[in-house]
Amino acid sequence: MNPQNADLRNANPRSGLHVAFDGITKDFGAVRVLHGVGFDLHPGRVHGLLGENGAGKSTLMKILAGYHAPTAGTIRIDGQPTRFAGSRDAEERGIVLIHQELNLADDLTVAQNMFLGHELRRGWLLDDRAMRVQAAQALRQVGFDGDPDTKVRDLIVAEKQLVEIAKAQLRHARLLIMDEPTASLTPSECERLFGLIARLRDDGVTIVYISHKLDEVERITDEVIVMRDGRFVARAPTAETSRRRMATLMVGRELTDMFPEKRTVPPSATPLMAVRDVTVPGWAEGVSFDLHPGEILGFAGLVGAGRTELFEGILGLRPRSAGRIELNGKAVRLRTPREAMRHGLTYLSEDRKGKGLHTSMRLRDNLTLMTLRHHAHPLLSHASEDAALARAVTAFGIRGDPGGTAASLSGGNQQKLAIAKFLEPDPRVFVLDEPTRGVDVGAKRDIYFLIERLAAERRGVIVISSELIELIGLCHRVIVMRGRRVTATLPADRLSEEELIAHAIGTHTRH
Ligand SMILES: Nc1ncnc2c1ncn2[C@@H]1O[C@H](COP(=O)(O)OP(=O)(O)OP(=O)(O)O)[C@@H](O)[C@H]1O
Ligand SMILES: [Mg+2]
Repeated sequence: MNPQNADLRNANPRSGLHVAFDGITKDFGAVRVLHGVGFDLHPGRVHGLLGENGAGKSTLMKILAGYHAPTAGTIRIDGQPTRFAGSRDAEERGIVLIHQELNLADDLTVAQNMFLGHELRRGWLLDDRAMRVQAAQALRQVGFDGDPDTKVRDLIVAEKQLVEIAKAQLRHARLLIMDEPTASLTPSECERLFGLIARLRDDGVTIVYISHKLDEVERITDEVIVMRDGRFVARAPTAETSRRRMATLMVGRELTDMFPEKRTVPPSATPLMAVRDVTVPGWAEGVSFDLHPGEILGFAGLVGAGRTELFEGILGLRPRSAGRIELNGKAVRLRTPREAMRHGLTYLSEDRKGKGLHTSMRLRDNLTLMTLRHHAHPLLSHASEDAALARAVTAFGIRGDPGGTAASLSGGNQQKLAIAKFLEPDPRVFVLDEPTRGVDVGAKRDIYFLIERLAAERRGVIVISSELIELIGLCHRVIVMRGRRVTATLPADRLSEEELIAHAIGTHTRH
């Protein structure tokens, strides 16, 4: 039997690995992204790894997990200098990385993905039954209640994330690295994950937890390690480090007010956008709302409440069975996002990798893809496109190689590029689905101020977000959805976490 399979069947916890990074340097071409990084990771401890977008967190962890080779420096594992030939090699030592950009094969089923490269066999044959049973068991532990035979392409992002976590569970990691694992999980899925992390930690597993959500870092990590610009900056016990201090260490300066001041929305006769009784079968029923010029309108609700799918329906990405949409007082029929754009509405999808960016294309080509005709005079002018890219890089603080592909950007910088791309056509109405997912604190603040600037120009902005603080800090009104319906519309002065949660989970009672 393949020794890997024996591992998978052996459910005994094994103690965690001690890791010492020493002078780790990494160059991509001529660009140095890690500059002699050194620190240790300890068994039985949860290490929060913090840093701005592009600081080098994912790159360092990919080196540890065998996906990249360091340009210079040594990694010692339990005292032994170690060089991995690849990620399989690292996995055999018990090092498992859950990627920031989910790494599943769309055409395979959930169970097939979980055992990919580690298939169980009986004699010569694949042991499908055993794989399905073990997959189902690991999936239950992380709270995925779907069918292991579902194709991954039919899952929503949150479900994919749960599958990645369950897959790591199956590998019996001795060092588990999670790169922003909760980016699209619901509060209850997060709770379950935190429980799982605590159990693994108590079993002695070494854990690295990368997140831009400082409240999570505060709650579940034992210590924080901060990187900035490819260098190690500081480490400290979490209990002795305030969130403010974490942010300051990451950014290298004090951050003042996270949110812009709220203006009053000027009165207007005609809404910019009016949605009436829209039904998206299976996802949203009879939803109506108005969006006024100058307004930032939030959509709150749990994952699965139908928010993303409602807007996909409005934009023609999903079938819509009823309802009416008006833009600037005129009824419109939107069949594709491109058509919506011609009517002055753009949509930033939450699934940036799948729908927002073409990661194999260059930054410039991504940015101008939707507005090529603006750069044709009449022939396509690369100079004009380059100028647009230079503007976007400055405006959004995009860090990375401007001549590279979108794939070469760090996760958060991909996010900034996606937002820049989406602003290029200069629309009147913006729908932003999870605009700050994976974005560092400094860049989050920039995005909030940008949204406010757009609204101040009498555009309308819709923000779908799972971060309640963001909705409360930013929005003039918040619509809460639960189980396909709108359950509340709250004005700015009634926005609080308690109120939003109560409406989102349905424990709110009228007085
Ligand atoms: N394959 C690659 N080719 C070229 N440059 C790369 C590649 N991967 C990463 N980089 C660059 O290395 C730097 C560090 O990126 P990394 O992904 O490690 O950042 P990060 O700290 O994980 O950021 P984020 O919080 O945004 O995920 C960035 O400037 C990025 O553009
Ligand atoms: Mg990263």
